[in-house]
Amino acid sequence: MKNSTNDQASTLRLIASNKTPIDAPEVTSPHSDEVGGVKPVKTRSLAISGGKGGVGKSNLAVNVALELGSLGNNVSLLDADFGLANADLLCGISSKYHLGHVIAGAKQLDEILVRVSPNVSILPSGSGIPELSKFSLSENSKILTQLKKMEHGLDFLLIDCAAGVGDSVTGVLVAADEVVIVATPEPTSIVDAYATIKVISRHAAEKPISIVVNSVIGVGDAEKVYKQINQAVNRFLSRDVHFLGMIPSDTQVTNAVRDQTPLVRYAPETPASRAIRLIAKQIHTQTRSASDPSDSAKSFWDQLSTSEPI
Ligand SMILES: Nc1ncnc2c1ncn2[C@@H]1O[C@H](COP(=O)(O)OP(=O)(O)OP(=O)(O)O)[C@@H](O)[C@H]1O
Ligand SMILES: [Mg+2]
Repeated sequence: MKNSTNDQASTLRLIASNKTPIDAPEVTSPHSDEVGGVKPVKTRSLAISGGKGGVGKSNLAVNVALELGSLGNNVSLLDADFGLANADLLCGISSKYHLGHVIAGAKQLDEILVRVSPNVSILPSGSGIPELSKFSLSENSKILTQLKKMEHGLDFLLIDCAAGVGDSVTGVLVAADEVVIVATPEPTSIVDAYATIKVISRHAAEKPISIVVNSVIGVGDAEKVYKQINQAVNRFLSRDVHFLGMIPSDTQVTNAVRDQTPLVRYAPETPASRAIRLIAKQIHTQTRSASDPSDSAKSFWDQLSTSEPI
């Protein structure tokens, strides 16, 4: 556990206050060649999951992608909720073409990419398409080859996962460098978050997993939820999960969704936006210090194509 209990409480107070939480960091991309002594690094893949549906995974994924982009990173967001994808909708884009067209051979991957800011793009997966719901990335080598090419020059690949722990979701979670679990204070969400961590740990015991507690109302909420999950993980899985951040319950989130504008653009200074900005800054900082710059570090797509069937 990196953040102490006091850190968590003070972070929530800062978010709820009207102050800038932390100084704006320098804007540099980890891919910038040796600028300021920073070595080029491989793309970091972060899968955003949570087990339970409707806990805020897609909102976190879209807004963190934009914030990481604002910090100077090249980011791509893969909407891996195949068949029920909606990350594009959250950005006010209704994509004409999606992964289904690539699978059918009608489009190339780069033709379906939608740019949502100069350095952030979304890879849409299509909604209301039953055939896509059975799609498994790891079993489609043609798509994987195209995805791997697309990864070049990316600092971050964020993957917005579907709810549940089906084989296709688990395959993505195991292949990603890091998993971010979104949980809310509801007991059903806490139980599902633990169940997801258990499934991941069965296949990848060392996988870095962090927790974002969403829809927090009281100062103690986030701490309580994180502690409950981490204690169960400690006890039954003999490992730790890291506390990444919290997002307050904020009516502006719903307003932004209705307006089909990402929250950080719709209401940049609302408490939930400030919280998401803090989370993005954490990810940005951690990545710069933790990335494996060696060529031997496998990409997400390599991991996915070489992993054992789940
Ligand atoms: N911090 C928040 N405050 C208030 N409402 C929120 C917050 N986070 C999410 N919501 C509400 O929850 C809804 C669902 O969010 P989102 O689509 O991101 O969840 P999801 O986990 O991706 O769902 P699914 O499992 O269906 O993919 C949003 O449309 C919004 O109304
Ligand atoms: Mg979603």
